[in-house]
Amino acid sequence: MSRKYEDRIQELLNKMTLQEKVGQLRQCGPSLVGAFEVSFEELLDMMFDGRITQEEFARLMGTAKQDFREDDLRDGRIGSYNGIGDAATANRLQKIAVTETRLGIPLLFGYDVIHGFRTVTPIPLAESCAWEPELWERTGRMAAEEATAAGVHMTFAPMVDVSKDARWGRISEGAGEDTLLAGLYGAAKVRGFQGDDLSAADSMAACVKHFAAYGAAEAGRDYNRVDMSMQRLWEEYLPPYKACIEAGARAIMPAFNDINGVPCSVNEWLLKEVLREKWGFDGMTVSDANAIAECVNHGVARDRAEAAALALEAGMDMDMTSEVYIENLEKLVTEGQVKEESLDRAVADILRIKFELGLFDHPYRTDEERQSRAMLKPKYRSLAREAAVKSMVLLKNDAASGEMLLPLDKSKKIAVFGELASSKSEMTGAWAIGAEGNDCVSLTEALEAEGILFTYTEGICNGKVDRGAIEENAANADVLLIAMGEHKEESGEAASRADISIPEVQMKLLEALAAFSKPVVVLLFNGRPLTLSRVHEKATAVLEAWHPGVEAGNALVDILYGKENPSGKLTATFPFASGQCPMYYAHMNTGRPGGKSKFTSKYLDTPLEPVYPFGYGLSYTSYEYRDLKIEKKEKAFLVSVYVKNVGSRAGEEIVQCYVQDKAAKRVRPVKLLKAFDKVRLEAGEEKQVCFTVPFEELGYYDWNMKYVVEDGEFVFYVGKNSSDCLNASVILERSERR
Ligand code: BGC
Repeated sequence: MSRKYEDRIQELLNKMTLQEKVGQLRQCGPSLVGAFEVSFEELLDMMFDGRITQEEFARLMGTAKQDFREDDLRDGRIGSYNGIGDAATANRLQKIAVTETRLGIPLLFGYDVIHGFRTVTPIPLAESCAWEPELWERTGRMAAEEATAAGVHMTFAPMVDVSKDARWGRISEGAGEDTLLAGLYGAAKVRGFQGDDLSAADSMAACVKHFAAYGAAEAGRDYNRVDMSMQRLWEEYLPPYKACIEAGARAIMPAFNDINGVPCSVNEWLLKEVLREKWGFDGMTVSDANAIAECVNHGVARDRAEAAALALEAGMDMDMTSEVYIENLEKLVTEGQVKEESLDRAVADILRIKFELGLFDHPYRTDEERQSRAMLKPKYRSLAREAAVKSMVLLKNDAASGEMLLPLDKSKKIAVFGELASSKSEMTGAWAIGAEGNDCVSLTEALEAEGILFTYTEGICNGKVDRGAIEENAANADVLLIAMGEHKEESGEAASRADISIPEVQMKLLEALAAFSKPVVVLLFNGRPLTLSRVHEKATAVLEAWHPGVEAGNALVDILYGKENPSGKLTATFPFASGQCPMYYAHMNTGRPGGKSKFTSKYLDTPLEPVYPFGYGLSYTSYEYRDLKIEKKEKAFLVSVYVKNVGSRAGEEIVQCYVQDKAAKRVRPVKLLKAFDKVRLEAGEEKQVCFTVPFEELGYYDWNMKYVVEDGEFVFYVGKNSSDCLNASVILERSERR
């Protein structure tokens, strides 16, 4: 632990009243008050269940004012705000904290900067498909530069919840199903957000979330229980959080869910033993929104007071918006039901981060002028465009008239269909709260800007395929482009789906277009894997664009017309049917692996394989792999393979290296990603790609939760994706293990 600020923290603690201490632990969101007689939450419910229209909701919201509880702030009863993303408001409140409270302790401003602040970059699931930590760090840095200019000190990101279940809406917010990728993604974001010096005016603290295993919610239903073995927790779910802490993340957010019966918000084992004792974390913990109070609903606390006591004693420092700390802690400490030293420890964690951010010396790290100059700079737009291009995954590209359909020739007459092709705001995707939809470039705008002649029809009217409208445009075009997928509200928080197929009306439109017997390009905008077998069958080409952010249209045109060669590869499996979920490549083998015989592990009505496997993605060129070799160095395997670009244009190939422990004392995954590399190859060029895989990384947790590396046979798989690999096996001798 760095001792740099401990004396100053102690000095402050000595001066603080109980009320001031509890105040530091309170994070408020500005609450909305307005010309409506119900609470904001009730109003939201009314919109969702149709009692009021979206327009009515928007009108009422327009009348609302934000209440910042300034009297409480003056009394030292607020330590932090959530959700304030403008410098003027932040500085006004900060001035009250610094000049009008008894001790002048500055406020901490937290905000969800998930994939860009104003310059919205692709949703994290999309960006992870670039398999490029250096890119992830640069977009993280850009987000920090904009957000800090708007007064933000801490982002509630990265989200590194491994998710193997495409039904879970929040799969969009993380790096997909793989543990290694999630850790690399998270660590890169932490470096980008925090920069080299947390006290710099453009650095923001990273709050890693949601600790832990939130992505394993049963049945993919958001907020649902998580029940899993300890081995699985340690091997598959915990490593990404640890990677972020090792990268220096200064805060962590315990998750909504319980793990094996104990909600993370009050889970002492998780918050003390794992996080602090084993991993040496000395930053701050902040609850998820309202999560401490929700321990009453979980049924582990009798009432709000007990929830507050349990959370504080378990190691939860800050209460995000549930108010149970401010309501109860003073009394609980006075009555001796909660130790004052537990309170002091939590306050110290919060003061420490405020010191580290430099807030005691520079409480106002920005102003309106800086904010007005900081947003959407041309260099930010070009980075957002690069990220969007690298995130897109080409899923199918068949020949039409003898040539691959994509890239398109500009002389081809195209007809564009689907409302998502002209939508700007849908391009931001879930969790883009600092975004302005109008900043986004839609596909139709980008086509126009590129001087491409096209016709455009939404194609669906009042929930039905508008056959009259599509007829003429489709008949006159050479190539039909259809934008399909999900709206941004259909993924993200509280947006789980039991059926992850494309809405039937969109499928009808695709079928109507396919009936013209012309090449059809499907462009997909979505926040999660979808079941695409019917789309795959009907389309000539399929490009997964995800929710690509502000440069959506430009990035699409770059790829569609061949200025850029697609290189993204999937970081989550695309199942054949929703009923296969959770479906993921790194599954354990069974005693009866799926096969021809009836009594093997499979479905009667669905193939065993996904439509697109983990790691899959095509390019406008193609690659061949040869000569996989495994050599032993001291304490590591050196894996090498030759990769050749056998097509006619340059491209980037993501070469993946997986391993399988053939026979161990516990069942091990059929394949587990251990390393990857993105290599650029000119047409005709060949390169040798090498990976070093330390023996130490081949282990697992045994029955007694001891990490062991066993000797014996290991099979290495190296290739284009998790199911298209060369393989070679090697024996690790007992004497070589350590
Ligand atoms: C989400 C968090 C988010 C928080 C603050 C919660 O509902 O689960 O991911 O950081 O809200 O906005």
